[in-house]
Amino acid sequence: MGKGIIEKYRLFLPVSDKTPIITLGEGETPLIKAENLSRFLELESALYLKVEGVNPTGSFKDRGMTMAISKAVEEGAKAIICASTGNTSASAAAYGARAGIPVIVVLPGGGVALGKLAQALMYGAKVIQIKGNFDAAFKVMNELANAMNAVVVNSTNPYRLEGQKTAAFEICEELDRCPTFHFIPVGNGGNITAYWRGYIEYGRGKNFEKLFKLPRMVGWQAEGAAPIVQARIVENPQTVASAIRIGNPAHWQDVVETVLESRGLIDTVSDEEILEAQKLIAQNEGIFCEPASAAPVAGFIKIHRADKKFFKKRSVIVCTLTGNGLKDPDIAIKLCDVPEPVESNLEEIKKLLDT
Ligand code: F0G
Repeated sequence: MGKGIIEKYRLFLPVSDKTPIITLGEGETPLIKAENLSRFLELESALYLKVEGVNPTGSFKDRGMTMAISKAVEEGAKAIICASTGNTSASAAAYGARAGIPVIVVLPGGGVALGKLAQALMYGAKVIQIKGNFDAAFKVMNELANAMNAVVVNSTNPYRLEGQKTAAFEICEELDRCPTFHFIPVGNGGNITAYWRGYIEYGRGKNFEKLFKLPRMVGWQAEGAAPIVQARIVENPQTVASAIRIGNPAHWQDVVETVLESRGLIDTVSDEEILEAQKLIAQNEGIFCEPASAAPVAGFIKIHRADKKFFKKRSVIVCTLTGNGLKDPDIAIKLCDVPEPVESNLEEIKKLLDT
């Protein structure tokens, strides 16, 4: 197993010799050049996919969770708690199990993909499903945390973003530069904020400010769950991408600042565009990501199709694929034609292959 992001990036993180390191070997995820997809899209610039779905619990949350749980243990926490659209709860439950700390997760009832729910239950967390959406779960979870003195491990926990910024370090190391554009889904808004911090710190740490020209951060919300783009709280957010079904993001202001400071952009994609992108990534590159993760690629395709000259030949674009497609099999199966069983007979099968 890899040594995990804390050991690897110790100098960049708020840890000391006294911090017990709770790790499952997160990080060091592949940065894959999407050559087939680029050919399909007639794209001349370099497009890379940062595949965060290969982290130990299948999402980028593990980078932040190793930090949040290690610090919680160092500070003597008796219990940890989070609200989640699914991935945070899966990650908290796993790292909490490894640390031997009780974990409570508060979920929007019926709003979490099956694989993620199975993870939280299997890792042994106390799972509470509320009648309401993520925003309601987040509110009641904070009240519960105060009442029972549990440590919150949502991205409002400062250590979470510290861990998550390490994905930007890995990208800089591998490219030996920052990308021109970084495309990323936006739900609660923590991850785009963390990447921006990572790019800034890496440049400084390496003392390479001139060479490390910072990227433009480009965030993507789903059309039916786009509070930041629409500049209003969305009471009843709706999207197939359940991970980013959030109507009142905790990091709203940070996202706005990140986009402004980096001269970036935040925009929306439709569910159809998300699902088309999810399938294109799988079929062209062999990478199965979850719907929310396909949002930035959908956004990239939308911009490129509207203006084939928007991305220059020398542009380097990185899209973060935040979570693994296996977490949400229901949506994937609906996208595909599942074949009826046939007789196990060569002639029958040949007939199928001819049509
Ligand atoms: N992609 C996936 C797969 C996610 O699970 C999330 C957030 C995001 C993108 C958005 O990241 O919130 O930092 O802007 N999932 C949270 C959760 C909300 O509870 O698992 P963000």
